[in-house]
Amino acid sequence: MTAIIEGGKQDMQHSPRLGTVSLFALVLSVTSPMAVAGGDPEAGKEKSQVCVQCHGETGHSVAPSFPILAGQYRDYLILALEEYKSGKRTNAIMAGFAATLSDEDREDIAAFYSKQKGLESIEYAE
Ligand code: HEC
Repeated sequence: MTAIIEGGKQDMQHSPRLGTVSLFALVLSVTSPMAVAGGDPEAGKEKSQVCVQCHGETGHSVAPSFPILAGQYRDYLILALEEYKSGKRTNAIMAGFAATLSDEDREDIAAFYSKQKGLESIEYAE
């Protein structure tokens, strides 16, 4: 065990690649604050204001005919929005809203909804 761990440490210390990769990540994070990897939930909140009337402030939809987005997986939200835009999923309401979204918008919006508390945490009124 010890030998494996020490071996791993040595690899890390002597790997020139690792240094390059982390430097690259640092430069990226400093130079491009607008394009946050994995989406920016703050920007997503802003962009989701047009969705509030049906999907609620935090993705807890206002009526049973509107799906709950809060706590949904990020990748699934992005996929669903891509499919409404491309026409693979057909829904008259969502087609219009999805059509206006860019790749970055989808990432930001998905980051926002996926960070909200999901179904398990809701207490329904009787
Ligand atoms: C006027 C009401 C309305 C508005 C506004 C609206 N939606 Fe929807 N949304 C719906 C309905 C209805 C569905 C279910 C459509 C279906 O049957 O495929 C849906 C489905 C979705 C789904 C798929 C959920 C799932 O579980 O598959 C996503 C993601 C979504 N909406 C995101 C958004 C986003 C993001 C916005 C704002 C840019 C938005 N919606 C605005 C009514 C709305």
